[in-house]
Amino acid sequence: MSTTTTSSASTVAQGSAPDPAGHACGGGHCLDRRQLLVRAGTAGATVGAVALLAACGESADSPGSGGGGGGAATPGADGSLAKLSDIPVGGAVSATAADGSKILLTQPEAGTVVGLSAVCTHQGCTVLPDDAQLHCPCHGSTFDLEGKNVSGPAPKPLPAFAVRVEDGAVFAQGS
Ligand code: FES
Repeated sequence: MSTTTTSSASTVAQGSAPDPAGHACGGGHCLDRRQLLVRAGTAGATVGAVALLAACGESADSPGSGGGGGGAATPGADGSLAKLSDIPVGGAVSATAADGSKILLTQPEAGTVVGLSAVCTHQGCTVLPDDAQLHCPCHGSTFDLEGKNVSGPAPKPLPAFAVRVEDGAVFAQGS
């Protein structure tokens, strides 16, 4: 059995509320579906509305969303968050913690898994895997695979979510 414990060097940044609507376009910059449909009906911009709905409908549960850098992890029956083999080396997948919070599991190097909150430190949108980076679809912040800011308006790194790797699966630390 091999056990690897990794936590990001990121400082924990609490206080940014998750998107209450549960979609990827929070922060007051994206209309909800009802608002969008109403506006589409009055403006007759059905095609544009459909395109916007598709963009706003992306979530951390959408495999491959955010640029194809990783999809969503499949939780194991053993309580694991993901199989290690689900996480691309040099990439990331979205996952869901036991309390329902959105997280990201990255694998910067083979066998080293970093767990991060997927709640953007800018305005709380869900950050998604994007190849070798993590991308917030709301205002374009990007983070590296350890949650550190690369670009965009997010003021802080993504908070760490402690995980451990055991027998080829990733578990929340303490579970
Ligand atoms: S919520 Fe604005 S960049 Fe993420």
